[in-house]
Amino acid sequence: MAFSESFLEDLSSRCDIYDVVSRYVTLKKSGSNWFGLCPFHGEKTPSFSVNTEKQIFHCFGCGVGGSVYNFIMKIENLTFPESVEFLANMAGVSLPKEDFHDNRKRLYNLNLEAAKFFRDYLFSEQGKEGLAYLTGRGLNLRTIRRFGLGFAPDAWSVLIEAMTAKGYTKEELLTLGLAKRNKNGRIYDQFRNRVIFPIIDIRGNVVAFGGRLMDDGKPKYLNSPESPIFSKSHHLFALNYAKKSQGRSLILAEGYMDVIALHQAGFTQAVASLGTSLTTDQAKLMKRFADEIIISYDADNAGQTAATRAAEILKNVELSIKILKIPGAKDPDEFIKANGAEAFATLLESSEEHMMFTLERIRNQYDLNDNEGRITFLKEAASILAKLPSPIEREIYASKAAQMAFVGKDVLLSEIDRKRHAYFKEQKKEEIKKTMHPERNAQPKDRALHYTDLKSARAEEGILSMLALDATCIRQLEKEQITQADFSAPFLGNIYTRMCALVNAGQPVTAAALSQGLTESEMSELGRILSAPSGGDESMALEDYIFILKEGRARRGAVSQIDPMLALRDLHKAKKSYGGNLK
Ligand code: UTP
Ligand code: MN
Repeated sequence: MAFSESFLEDLSSRCDIYDVVSRYVTLKKSGSNWFGLCPFHGEKTPSFSVNTEKQIFHCFGCGVGGSVYNFIMKIENLTFPESVEFLANMAGVSLPKEDFHDNRKRLYNLNLEAAKFFRDYLFSEQGKEGLAYLTGRGLNLRTIRRFGLGFAPDAWSVLIEAMTAKGYTKEELLTLGLAKRNKNGRIYDQFRNRVIFPIIDIRGNVVAFGGRLMDDGKPKYLNSPESPIFSKSHHLFALNYAKKSQGRSLILAEGYMDVIALHQAGFTQAVASLGTSLTTDQAKLMKRFADEIIISYDADNAGQTAATRAAEILKNVELSIKILKIPGAKDPDEFIKANGAEAFATLLESSEEHMMFTLERIRNQYDLNDNEGRITFLKEAASILAKLPSPIEREIYASKAAQMAFVGKDVLLSEIDRKRHAYFKEQKKEEIKKTMHPERNAQPKDRALHYTDLKSARAEEGILSMLALDATCIRQLEKEQITQADFSAPFLGNIYTRMCALVNAGQPVTAAALSQGLTESEMSELGRILSAPSGGDESMALEDYIFILKEGRARRGAVSQIDPMLALRDLHKAKKSYGGNLK
């Protein structure tokens, strides 16, 4: 599913970024930009800017930025297509039907048909083995039906045949990961001889599947890949039911089986992240339905480490967190089976707040009968407590920690105060540094986008920003045969190709037209690059950038894939003609 660039451009021209952002943020004019307090990170001095000329936003504090679509994605916690839909509604523009609804609707329907197929197979004569497996694991028929569980036949094309007979195409089956293509180009059913767990979104659409082997083979679970209707990091298993549960509290477990067992035992507020570490988007999704999350991960080390990581992420979206310890069992599923629902309810009540959990974790690292150990423990506790924004919380946990180390709470509180001062000074310095010297933050925020060749990457950024500013630059770039392959940073190279395509199609190069298909972090970087006032470093000319690019490419040895002699000659030529411009 994709929107045409001209549609995106047209829609964004009806949704002025200033109008959209000012629904959420109070903006004040300063120079040619508008400034306000960043809605995406806590700050006291405005470093969030909106540029109406380029129709982009950028925060110098936390680095987020991009087009009006990216702003809506972030602030409303929506996917790209949803943000387009949102803005189209706001502007009273109807969505191009072909682009959006029909294709997606077909995919949703296909998943629904597949889910029904798996379910019917589970309850058929051939599905006996699957049903026996599920009931053997303690699930009753009501639960099995409620979760729409199913069974995939032990065959290569039964699902493909059934779905194509209903009018779906092989491409659609491939798109959803229900089918795969082998080396010879033949396609086959992806899920075979597995019990099937449909993943259903909060609107009731079947968006993906997990399939479990019935023995100890590997991989234990197969899951649907990312698709136009499924992004793993945006969904939580069973949230479609959990969102209807009483009270604003959710239980977060690791696995499908844990959640299903919890629901069957009456804990219908249970959800699971889909087998990977929790994401901020999932945290925000939970926040729509809860104020408190009780993390109930596996009791082993891996589970507890994952729990601490999840707690950090949940804390960042201001959810209150408790972490459950499951004594004598590996996970909630096993615990309930062994001890019953009431025992689990008692466990829930005694679950610890995250801060106590953390304090106890560090306490266990030191010998508190030893002075040295007590001192290190208290110092470490002070650093952690110093970051709590509420004075009441600091007071309460300081006295707990002080008790653990057998000292009065006042000494600890004054140590916390000292740490807070130092911490704020540090933060302030960071913020000033970032605002005043953005060039020092030459690396992208997201580690995944890390520049391996910083010098070349800065020049690559320069080229993008000049090209966006002045489309005629393309002539020189084409003359010098600069292509995506000359870029050291893959995402910059990709943006370059798309920019050239826009220029060649006579379309304006705007953040909005480029938004589609870029990840959130890529878009943030693009926003930063496009917000450079004069197309990059003012002391550089386009030819300087081109020279650096070629030099970088030769240095990295990427030239060996072409003809090394030719590339070297090119480089000499380039040096001759641009050498004079280099400082
Ligand atoms: P678990 O192994 O704890 O799963 O992995 P479980 O649900 O308790 O399964 P049982 O009890 O062994 O049947 C936790 C989650 O990690 C994901 C699944 O979402 C699983 O529910 N996972 C695990 C995978 O995606 N693939 C795997 O191979 C294993
Ligand atoms: Mn399990």
